[in-house]
This record gives sequence, structure tokens and C-alpha cells, in this order.
Amino acid sequence: MRKHVLILFLLISLPLFSGGMKEEPFIGVAIYDFSDSFIAEVRDSIAAESEGGIPVRIVDAARRQQTQNGQIEAFIEDGASAIIVNSVDRTASGVIIEKCMQSNVPLVFFNREPVKDDMSKWDKVYYVGANAADSGRMAADILADYWFQHPEADRNGDGVLQFVLIKGETGHQDTELRTEYFIETLLSRGIRLDKLHEDTGEWNRSKGYDVMKSFIAHSEDEIEAVFANNDDMALGAIEALQESGFFSGGRFMPVVGIDGTGSGMKALQNGTLLGTVYNDAVNQGKAAYHLAAELAEGRIPTDEAIGYEITDGRYVWIPYRPLPGDAEQ
Ligand code: BGC
Ligand code: CA
Repeated sequence: MRKHVLILFLLISLPLFSGGMKEEPFIGVAIYDFSDSFIAEVRDSIAAESEGGIPVRIVDAARRQQTQNGQIEAFIEDGASAIIVNSVDRTASGVIIEKCMQSNVPLVFFNREPVKDDMSKWDKVYYVGANAADSGRMAADILADYWFQHPEADRNGDGVLQFVLIKGETGHQDTELRTEYFIETLLSRGIRLDKLHEDTGEWNRSKGYDVMKSFIAHSEDEIEAVFANNDDMALGAIEALQESGFFSGGRFMPVVGIDGTGSGMKALQNGTLLGTVYNDAVNQGKAAYHLAAELAEGRIPTDEAIGYEITDGRYVWIPYRPLPGDAEQ
């Protein structure tokens, strides 16, 4: 009797396990932090692009890699056809790749770039991003143009640009490269530099505010320019500067960011942000989705199928664009 029940159970449940009653296919999307303004724009672009195509399931790791690992495991268990990952800690990508490889679930990383060694672990791993060095150069050019057009920007008249840096998360490729090429470009344009302070604002607006507050407390009269590795931190810095009387009564401070997010663009228009560099959230989201959708269908993505150029067989680079404001007063 018991044996019969068991057999009956197996017969009924077999189609479930063998895929006979297959669930709807979907693409899992694992995001490092929903509250990151730029990333939220990429996320919205992925969601918009999925309309009418393979649906997406989007989850937030709230900056915890352990949470994200669990979310990716759940995607695999639920039968995801492909997974898009914006990793919390990009050095954890190797573990994620191995997990997906075991279950043959293709992967598309974006924005937080896995190291080359990890990328080459498997051929169904792609990356969508932007060339960080370019954004550093473009941000520097905006500031250099301003510096040469505005002799009064040299507040102490010593011929040297005294500046402060608000950096993104330590270890993020964008933090290191944007900063490096920003400085290199200013020097190559013949500007002598004196970095007064630098600190990390973790990509975050309120941390950017705190960092700027402390720079002002130390060196209010010396600072001649601010470079923040992204718009959110630049906006935090502007808020702190406003509290010290900048941006009114003819007191200006050149602040340069990167991203061109919605709120960044507002600051550009109201003249508080000197300039920013457009980090194309829309096209990064579209490219990531179309790569994942092709992989989900079991195809090897081609430039024609996804509408973007694939470099080295696994990278899609979306160009940055300088956005100088008209804050030049
Ligand atoms: C963006 C930042 C964002 C970070 C998140 C960068 O490319 O410019 O605004 O916080 O990515 O990883
Ligand atoms: Ca000076």
C-alpha cells in the first residue's frame, strides 16, 4: 500500500521536477543598493526594457554581499534563465561565477567590474560598464576650462589650484580611475596642484555632505575647487558649502561631479554644480538586459542582436559624455 502511494506521488510530482510544468522563464537582477541614485536609474532602465520581453525579477542586497549571494542562489533554484549582477563587492564575483557555471545560468555583470581572472573563468560571463578613466579626464577638462577662464578662481593668487577630493567607495574601479585621470589631466593641462584633503563619501550624498563639512572646518578659506567622484556626493558637498554662504552673494565654488543623474542635472541648471559627466544609465541598462535576454534564449550575443558593440567577446562599453554647466559666473 505504502509503496503504491509513493509511486503515485512520484508520478504526480515528476513533471514538476522534470520541467513538465515549467514556470515562466525570467531574468534575475541582483542590485547592490536600491538607494544609490545612479544605480536606481540603471535598474529602472532594465525594468523598462524588459517590457514585452522576458520578465525580470529585481532584488536589493542593501550593500551586503551575503544577502546578494543568497539572492543569486534563490534565482538559480527558481530556474532563472540568466542573471544580471551589480555586485556588492566586486572581488566576490568569482564565487558568483562558479555558482552560476555549475547550474549553467549565464551572467551579465554591470557597473562593478569583476577582475579579468574572474571574467575568464567561464565564457557565459559578460560585463557592461563605462570607461572610468574617460570620465576622470572629462571632469578635469571642465574644471581646467573654468580655471583658465576665471583668474579669480585662484582665491589666494598663488598660481596653484588648491582642491579637495570626495572619493567613491574604496576599491571600486571608478573611484580609483576617475581620481587618477582627473589629476593626471589637470597636470597635463599645465595646472599646478595642491590637494588639501581627500576622503571617501562612499558614493553617498549625506556622507559627501559630512566629508565636505569637515574639509570646510579645516580649510574654508583655502579650498578653490571640489571634485566628487559622483553627483550624489557633489550634491552633499554643495549643501555643506551653501551652509557656509557659498552660491549666494557672489561667492562661488567650482564643484565637479560625475553621472548626470536627475538631481545632478537640476544642480547643473541652477548653477551650483559647475559640471558633470554623463554616465549613461539608460544605455547601460538596455545593453545589460539585451545581453541577458540573448543568453537566456541560449544564443551567443552578437552586436546586431543586442544593438551594442561587444569588445573582446564579453565587454560592452557605454561612452561617457561631458556636461559642462553654465555656472560660470
Ligand atoms: C556611479 C556612482 C555609483 C556607483 C555604484 C558609479 O559608476 O558613478 O554614482 O554610486 O557607480 O557602483
Ligand atoms: Ca591657489
